[in-house]
Amino acid sequence: MIRFLTAGESHGKALTVIVEGFPSNLKIKNDYLNFHLKRRQAGYGRGLRMKIESDTAEIISGIRFQKTLGSPISFLIKNRDWENWVERMSPENKNPGIEKISIPRPGHADLVGVSKYNFDDIRNSIERSSARETAARVAAGTIARRFLEEFGISIGSFVESIGGVYPKENFSEKLFKNDIPKNFIGWDLSAQSDRSEVRVLNKEHELKIINKIKLAKKKGDTLGGTFYVVATGVPVGLGSFVHYDTKLDADIAQAIMSINAVKGVSIGTGYEAAEKFGSESHDEIIFRGNNPDKSGQVLSRRTNRAGGIEGGISTGLPIIVKGAMKPISTLMTPIQSVDLKTMKAVDARRERSDFVAVPACAVIGESMLAWSLVKFFLLKFGGDSIEETKDNFRSYTKKLNNRIRKNFK
Ligand SMILES: Cc1cc2nc3c(=O)[nH]c(=O)nc-3n(C[C@H](O)[C@H](O)[C@H](O)COP(=O)(O)O)c2cc1C
Repeated sequence: MIRFLTAGESHGKALTVIVEGFPSNLKIKNDYLNFHLKRRQAGYGRGLRMKIESDTAEIISGIRFQKTLGSPISFLIKNRDWENWVERMSPENKNPGIEKISIPRPGHADLVGVSKYNFDDIRNSIERSSARETAARVAAGTIARRFLEEFGISIGSFVESIGGVYPKENFSEKLFKNDIPKNFIGWDLSAQSDRSEVRVLNKEHELKIINKIKLAKKKGDTLGGTFYVVATGVPVGLGSFVHYDTKLDADIAQAIMSINAVKGVSIGTGYEAAEKFGSESHDEIIFRGNNPDKSGQVLSRRTNRAGGIEGGISTGLPIIVKGAMKPISTLMTPIQSVDLKTMKAVDARRERSDFVAVPACAVIGESMLAWSLVKFFLLKFGGDSIEETKDNFRSYTKKLNNRIRKNFK
């Protein structure tokens, strides 16, 4: 079973992450990790902090000569702004001059955090609840993504909407219709969306969104949005219907929902399916190819409205996940809060913040989806080395079609 554990505060010295359970001999380069970490930091509407920091992961253990050892992998992601936070975040005695934060921001973890942990300073809640932690997750998820590539599984994402601005033509429709080029891979989506400042697939759409973000900024307000994460090349049979916690769709939903500010997740046509007839919702089963008697032909689906999962098990078609992110909670034109020191009504606290982070959220979604897929992949195929996993994988996929044919003869 793979697992990862992150540690670190937003303005602490560094984030650390320990990743466990990956087979040995998986090739991974530091540049590859840093490439994906950088992608998390991009996007129009991010705050100043993203400009100060360019995250890099220092590999501490578990990788030798660019290959995993099978032992725990650990990384350190240093806070480049640490020198300005040493006193405020010191693990030693508190300097009497350090300001305590007493005005919670609605929508953030400020008030619930001080209530639950009995803090006298909201800074103690802010630091760990901040989405800074997701940098460590992207590092862990990038190992997972690298692993999946070895098996032809590719992940990409794009932003569908920000502040309710949707594209005229939505690429998700093509995905649901299964109307995508034969050689399409998930990463194609990111290769295209990464070129856009807001990670959308269309220039006209990008301009409309940027105008909406400019409006929000002018008003001192923030925005949220929706994004898609797609995985191609996933084999039939990951996940299971036998228990609530073995269902692939349930695990993916948890993984995406765990990202800060994500408040909705759907698989395939999701909420739309709830409004349709069954005949408009399900994916007809077909036999791809001209002659059904010839081997080498495969069972497939006319459409992919289910988003690549039925009964908690992957169908072999692209996995299509949608996430909805609420607007950022820190507002430059604040809404009402209460100062916990005086118990008087005041404006919520302002602090250096993003206006929009949906593009970054989609990148984090890629890592979380990768993680969930590897979890089920290794449960099914196992292996202490990548070579052993590949043997198990090949033997399963090679026999799959013939097995169904034989069983039903
Ligand atoms: C990539 C990313 C960046 C974020 N940046 C900010 C930010 O700058 N300011 C802010 O108030 N919230 C930001 N958030 C959202 C908060 O982290 C989130 O609202 C908070 O942790 C409370 O959790 P919840 O919204 O899931 O309830 C960001 C979220 C993500 C995914």
